[in-house]
Amino acid sequence: MNPVSSIVVALGAVLLLVVIAAVGAGALGLELVFGAILPYLAIVAFLAGFVYRIVQWAKSPVPFRIPTSCGQQESLPWIKQDKLDNPSCGWGVLGRMALEVLFFRSLFRNTKAELQDGSKKLVYGSDKWLWAAGLAFHWTFLVVFLRHMRLFAEPVPGFVHLLESFDGFFQITVPAFFITDAIILGALTYLFIRRVVLPEVRAISLPADFFPLFLLLGVATTGVLMRYIFKVDISAVKKLSMGLLSFSFSVPEGIGVLFYIHLFLVCTLFAYFPFSKLMHMGGVFMSPTRNLANNNRKVRHVNPWDYPVKTHTYDEYEEEFRKLMQSMDIPVEKE
Ligand code: HEM
Repeated sequence: MNPVSSIVVALGAVLLLVVIAAVGAGALGLELVFGAILPYLAIVAFLAGFVYRIVQWAKSPVPFRIPTSCGQQESLPWIKQDKLDNPSCGWGVLGRMALEVLFFRSLFRNTKAELQDGSKKLVYGSDKWLWAAGLAFHWTFLVVFLRHMRLFAEPVPGFVHLLESFDGFFQITVPAFFITDAIILGALTYLFIRRVVLPEVRAISLPADFFPLFLLLGVATTGVLMRYIFKVDISAVKKLSMGLLSFSFSVPEGIGVLFYIHLFLVCTLFAYFPFSKLMHMGGVFMSPTRNLANNNRKVRHVNPWDYPVKTHTYDEYEEEFRKLMQSMDIPVEKE
């Protein structure tokens, strides 16, 4: 599919979701469906799908140690090992993994290749913007997610207040403007523009690449609109979310349709998550190029499913066909 069609399909799908929620929860009054039933279904799909994908990965055979080695392997005592880039024990793996998951270290060191001087020279350069935008998006998503705990816990936990006061530090608007709201929207927009502007990235982009970006932009935009412009009844939202936690199917009236659009997009995100590229969240931990210690020189790793294979050696072969071979002048070892 060409890039323009991919964008149209993905954007169309997200807009369709918005319309479904607006009509369903607004005009048709199906608040119970959009406020309670779909959220439960989405959580079930998320959990079941997530566990299924992890179990499938865990069942894949990994007979040998295949970690990516980006530095000196543990060797003779006087040769300095690069413990993070070529870990040989569990602690090293833990350190390397933590830097990867928390700071996207491999992406930080990623380079981009460019043809310069009229396509004569291939030049490698650093590509820190992708790293910065990726990191900014993931961290702000986490902060926004954690801040939402105020809707799901009574009393509101102290760390949520702390996050809110840091995040709303500038106190520009009423309610206080959250810096993370601007960063998450900015980062997602950059990630989209990058996909469209860079020809080599555009060429490999599919609807499955644009859909999560538009979906996340939809979630964040509806959230921002709810907080700063078209206010919804937050105490009613809290009643609903506390009700979801206690499995009571009660949906307060008059919350506002924008909230149901927000929630429906979030439900879609959760249900879609395990079956999409977003599963890299679980996959990073299951990757044998990252989660294994490189102790190939210290320990002999035997393929666990090696079994006695019936072989036919050359000696046996010659024994069987010697006469035939001699008759055709094929040289033999034993005359
Ligand atoms: C992946 C999950 C979610 C994301 C990324 C998300 C994102 C956002 C964002 C960016 C905002 C703008 C204000 C802020 O940053 O707090 C927001 C507001 C809001 N969200 Fe979400 N949201 C999510 C899940 C939910 C869920 C599950 C609910 C309800 C049960 C919800 C209800 C609300 C409400 C009521 C507001 C307005 C808050 C206010 O007026 O202060 N969100 N959301």
